Amino acid sequence: MNEIVKVENLSFIYRRGTVPALKGITLSIRAGEFVGITGPAGAGKTTLLSCINGVIPHYYAGDLHGKVIVDGLDIAASNFRQLASHVGTVFEDPDFQMVSISVEEEVAFGPENLGLPSREIEARVRDALQKTRIPDLRERAISTLSGGQKQRVAISSVLSMLPQVLLLDDPTSELDPVGTQEVITALRELNRQVGITIIMVSQDVERLVENADRLLLLSEGRLILDGPSREICLQHDVVEKAGVRVPQVTQFMISFLSKLNRSPQLETIPLTIEEAASMLRKILREEGVA
Ligand SMILES: Nc1ncnc2c1ncn2[C@@H]1O[C@H](COP(=O)(O)OP(=O)(O)O)[C@@H](O)[C@H]1O
Ligand SMILES: [Mg+2]
Repeated sequence: MNEIVKVENLSFIYRRGTVPALKGITLSIRAGEFVGITGPAGAGKTTLLSCINGVIPHYYAGDLHGKVIVDGLDIAASNFRQLASHVGTVFEDPDFQMVSISVEEEVAFGPENLGLPSREIEARVRDALQKTRIPDLRERAISTLSGGQKQRVAISSVLSMLPQVLLLDDPTSELDPVGTQEVITALRELNRQVGITIIMVSQDVERLVENADRLLLLSEGRLILDGPSREICLQHDVVEKAGVRVPQVTQFMISFLSKLNRSPQLETIPLTIEEAASMLRKILREEGVA
């Protein structure tokens, strides 16, 4: 197994925190996986990402136990600047992480700070813009872009550091549906075609299920579920008790099935409208209605 992220018995209390933000988290992520992390506000999602990208312990002090290894590096023992070439992070609000006026400057910023030769910087900028399909935005001022375009610039500016792992903390919550779709499509292509490992936080399980192979559910600093999206949705009661919702179509089909005294099965629990439609057709045939 080609393990790219390994978290071992990780616990963390912020210096000003009263309760642990993370409690005994153990998980392992393979290269090329698309993993979704969900859970209610305050569950520890951002804190977990901060332990993977090194913001904890390099920027936030506190009481840290356990170990995080990314791309073979022990995060706590590594130089923080060096980590950006292994793991990149995109935040909720694209304006929050932009430091430049133009798209080109923004995407070149990281490689320039590494002191790379200009030919290498140029190649990385071109490649990073290509990977998120925005080469035509290169000369634009960031202030003139839509939310979805800005977020793709933010992704490109992280990709120009050539990380193996891309972390996204609720990257679409500030975007309209069009912008959200642009970002999700870009992420899916990066994962499927470029093979980059993606770890994406969202409270929108529906969105995660559409894209992620695997879901992690955090609640009160603990990892309470970890498995294929289908397995997690089958445990909808655990998910709901933690304070997040499985996809609406899944909820609907679970209550519909219970009216027929049936329960959802792992192989067939519908996660999308298409799956629900084909299950409904089958049920109607079995019930002799159609
Ligand atoms: N800088 C901080 N100082 C002290 N406590 C914090 C800090 N950031 C987050 N916390 C606490 O840590 C817990 C987890 O927060 P967080 O990781 O932001 O959750 P999530 O991203 O799931 O909403 C919460 O109880 C929160 O109040
Ligand atoms: Mg958060």
